[in-house]
Amino acid sequence: MMYISKNKESESVSAKEFLLSIIGNAPYGIISIDLYGNITIINQQALTLLGKKEKPGEVINRKIIEFLKECPELGKNIVECLKRGRKPFDILETKVDHQYLSFRGRIILDGLIIVIEDVTNFVKSKNKIKEQVEKLEALDILKSQFLTITSHELKTPLTPIKAQTELLLGEERGKITEEQRISLDMVLRNIKRLDILLSDILDIARMKAGKLKLEMKKENLSDCIKEIITNTKLLAERKKITIETRMAELPKFVFDAGRIKQVLHNLLDNAIKFTGINGKIMIEAKKQKNEVLVQVKDTGIGISKNDAKTLFKEFGQLDTSLKRKQSGAGLGLFICKMIVEQHGGKIWVESKLGKGSTFYFTLPLKSGRGGIG
Ligand SMILES: Nc1ncnc2c1ncn2[C@@H]1O[C@H](COP(=O)(O)OP(=O)(O)O)[C@@H](O)[C@H]1O
Ligand SMILES: [Mg+2]
Repeated sequence: MMYISKNKESESVSAKEFLLSIIGNAPYGIISIDLYGNITIINQQALTLLGKKEKPGEVINRKIIEFLKECPELGKNIVECLKRGRKPFDILETKVDHQYLSFRGRIILDGLIIVIEDVTNFVKSKNKIKEQVEKLEALDILKSQFLTITSHELKTPLTPIKAQTELLLGEERGKITEEQRISLDMVLRNIKRLDILLSDILDIARMKAGKLKLEMKKENLSDCIKEIITNTKLLAERKKITIETRMAELPKFVFDAGRIKQVLHNLLDNAIKFTGINGKIMIEAKKQKNEVLVQVKDTGIGISKNDAKTLFKEFGQLDTSLKRKQSGAGLGLFICKMIVEQHGGKIWVESKLGKGSTFYFTLPLKSGRGGIG
């Protein structure tokens, strides 16, 4: 806003000159029009951007609509703006010749000011980024399809391999020696590991495609926790890790027990994996307001604040070096997040490097989501 004193005529003249000099030297094209749509001020930059051959003096008093007839969209906005008053407009990316221009119109006391800017580079970079994103999305779909097909094909022969190994271990094909049992146990363990990995990949493909159906039933969460502790007991005992629980009286509530056990299993498996000999793990579950909060706390290696952001992403293994001690593909927490979120809950971690980690997740007591199927 400019203020010109009424009494000081000379100051008013110099203020006008000052204003014209600013407009003349502005890095943008500027056009001012009166309430009847006549051009009152225009700078050379505006004419250059619009590709006009005329000089500013030759354009003054001409009708803006006729002057900018190659930009009908802009003309419509100007008419609207003048009719309705006070309604500014921002039109980005109007193509004039080979460049993209942005027009911003603002009502002033006795007319309208239009600021014109060359946004060609901005639009081109934006289009390039959009193109790249589309390419990456297409590649991501291709990757998922490849993983799905490959996992299916690998899983199919795994079923008879597993069955035959179990037959041998059960001595249905004849007696086996202790050494043979040790070998077959190892074969079976690795078949199971491969089977879980393939199932994880298939789960992710299903979740990404929105095809994961939850089997929502009234279940007992404490029973699920107890079952998972029993399943991971051997792993913990091998590292002399004690697992304690603190479970408040929980009401039965609706969730997919199979999938929540998958979440609990991964959290507990991780806690055991990333905790040293003689460590401690505490599992707590309690009701708070209208949800249940589950915590899995360990005294393990911990996670830095920065790393905590990548954990829940696909292939979110923190140690990706070939020498890393712990196996796993880094899919577990990503799957946990998808399952918990599909239940309408949240999952997060609090941790300090070297001081252990606590993973939390919540499940709503009244789930409106998930879909029964
Ligand atoms: N309790 C934990 N303590 C320390 N680091 C953890 C813990 N749980 C998970 N992590 C880190 O998060 C990564 C991702 O975990 P997850 O998705 O389950 O994959 P995976 O178990 O296959 O490595 C792990 O590789 C590890 O670096
Ligand atoms: Mg894991």
